[in-house]
Amino acid sequence: MEKINTQNSKRRDTENKIGNDKKYKVINHNVRSSHITGGGGSQAGKYSDLVVGKKGIAALLKYEFLTSTFSGCPGALGILLRKIFYRFLFKKIGKGVVFGRNITLRHPNKIIIGDNVLIDENCMLDAKGNDNKGIEIKNGSYIGRNTILSCKDGDIILEENVNIGFNCEVQSSSHVSIGKNTLVAAYVYIIAGDHIHESEDQPVSLIQGTSKGIVIGENCWLGAKATIFDGVEIGHNVVIGASAVVNEDVAPFSVAVGIPAKVIKNKLAGQKENKQE
Ligand SMILES: CC(C)(COP(=O)(O)OP(=O)(O)OC[C@H]1O[C@@H](n2cnc3c(N)ncnc32)[C@H](O)[C@@H]1OP(=O)(O)O)[C@@H](O)C(=O)NCCC(=O)NCCS
Repeated sequence: MEKINTQNSKRRDTENKIGNDKKYKVINHNVRSSHITGGGGSQAGKYSDLVVGKKGIAALLKYEFLTSTFSGCPGALGILLRKIFYRFLFKKIGKGVVFGRNITLRHPNKIIIGDNVLIDENCMLDAKGNDNKGIEIKNGSYIGRNTILSCKDGDIILEENVNIGFNCEVQSSSHVSIGKNTLVAAYVYIIAGDHIHESEDQPVSLIQGTSKGIVIGENCWLGAKATIFDGVEIGHNVVIGASAVVNEDVAPFSVAVGIPAKVIKNKLAGQKENKQE
């Protein structure tokens, strides 16, 4: 498969974020559970660490009141109430944002939402992490029902007009960005984190993992059930076929399908051919 030579600056940004000239970030997999089980402190403190993301009883009470009062409200009234009151939870929120019912929010103080964003029912926006920036969803983006955006000490950036279908998962232990106007079909997995599995005697779940980050360009279309592995960069205007497993970079304007995904077409070559006809 052709390698991408563009977007190197974005890759450098990722590496700078990771720091120490490493090409990947080492993840302590306890990051997932440490907020619940690790350390000392009260149960309320552990719950606040996991869910609220801010210290103090006032932050906890505000989170509990707003989410338990408005999360499940049905119909247009529920949408209106969440529009009015959920803005007090987030770091920054634009105009015309629509929240469906039963959205799970974690560390909402690290979530930025632009104008005219729609987040459908049963989604999870989880900006959890100890020193991450969190989640940014820019203007006009849409997050389909049951979709999970999950930071495990990483960041997720959706540029303008990103459209993510139902039942997708985007997970970041370092950095995931999706370029503007990119369409992500249902059941897509974009997981910026990996397990080290070479040990003979230690279970995968108990040893450190790694995360290189994932960069997906503008104007792409990811077909249903596609899986994007950690470290992959997908160039702009790329099409990924349904059920593809993408474990290598994909050059701009490519159409890639299969397991592992291979480029079967180049849109630019197609255009040239069409012009010559
Ligand atoms: C990738 C895709 C866009 C290609 O469409 P296309 O350009 O019309 O390509 P073709 O149908 O001409 O297929 C070209 C070849 O790739 C194969 N192919 C196409 N899609 C494939 C896929 N998802 N997985 C494996 N092989 C695939 C075809 O069998 C064909 O193989 P052949 O040349 O050996 O016969 C399309 O097949 C696809 O997967 N679309 C995603 C659909 C989807 O998820 N929709 C959700 C709605 S948002």
